[in-house]
Amino acid sequence: MRQSSIHTAIIMDGNGRWAAQRGLPRLEGHRVGAETLRHIVEVAPRLNIGVLTVYAFSSDNWNRPKEEVDALLFLLACYFEKESVRLRDAGVRTTVIGRRDRLPPALLAAIDLAETRTEHCARLHFRLAVDYSARASILQAAGDDQLRSAFFNDAIPVDLLIRTGGEQRLSDFLLWESAYAELVFTKRMWPDFTPTDLRAAVAEFHRRDRRFGAVPQTFTEVVPESELAASSSERWLR
Ligand code: IPE
Ligand code: IPE
Ligand code: MG
Repeated sequence: MRQSSIHTAIIMDGNGRWAAQRGLPRLEGHRVGAETLRHIVEVAPRLNIGVLTVYAFSSDNWNRPKEEVDALLFLLACYFEKESVRLRDAGVRTTVIGRRDRLPPALLAAIDLAETRTEHCARLHFRLAVDYSARASILQAAGDDQLRSAFFNDAIPVDLLIRTGGEQRLSDFLLWESAYAELVFTKRMWPDFTPTDLRAAVAEFHRRDRRFGAVPQTFTEVVPESELAASSSERWLR
């Protein structure tokens, strides 16, 4: 039986440490990290992932040195520009979540290009979180009727949330949507993360027993015929 597709979210962490371990500038980690992302997006539909949301730049990342921020935003613009045709040809609808009013015009144009080029695609919905803060979007929705309905319309519950780089925290990513997400933390730095690692994380997800506050699957199996004859209250009293 084919299982329904899942929403996987990834906190792509560890680029800087990956580079430092090799005596390279942090930027090199981000550059290789962008390559990793390309491979992961390619394999996602084959793992029955219907929505893939990745954390590319958090609103708190503005606090990094200006050179790193500028380089990250530049890399993102290159990614959208370079990848949009490939994404379209692969049937990947690409959209961006997060604030747009603080992004440089070149990045905005590249985002616009990728979103427009891929809007008809339906094989995978790929979402990049850029200048994203879950707390900020929840706060915004709380104070405005229109934003509130947009927030709830766009909120896709996360099934599987992966964080690379060894830290075990959410860093303000998809707080609302991850209410019942299965969490997978790996020590692997993002530039080293492979499609095989993604496959392993998805396999781990399928081994989990998601209860959503109800009783475990094993306690809800079919009641035997003999049991059915007795009324439910009798069954409890026995
Ligand atoms: C993740 O890698 C990329 C971004 C946050 C933009 P980091 O740059 O956080 O790498 P580490 O955590 O310092 O190793
Ligand atoms: C989270 O990683 C943001 C992204 C991966 C884009 P950070 O490296 O910024 O998070 P903290 O500072 O370790 O919590
Ligand atoms: Mg980090």
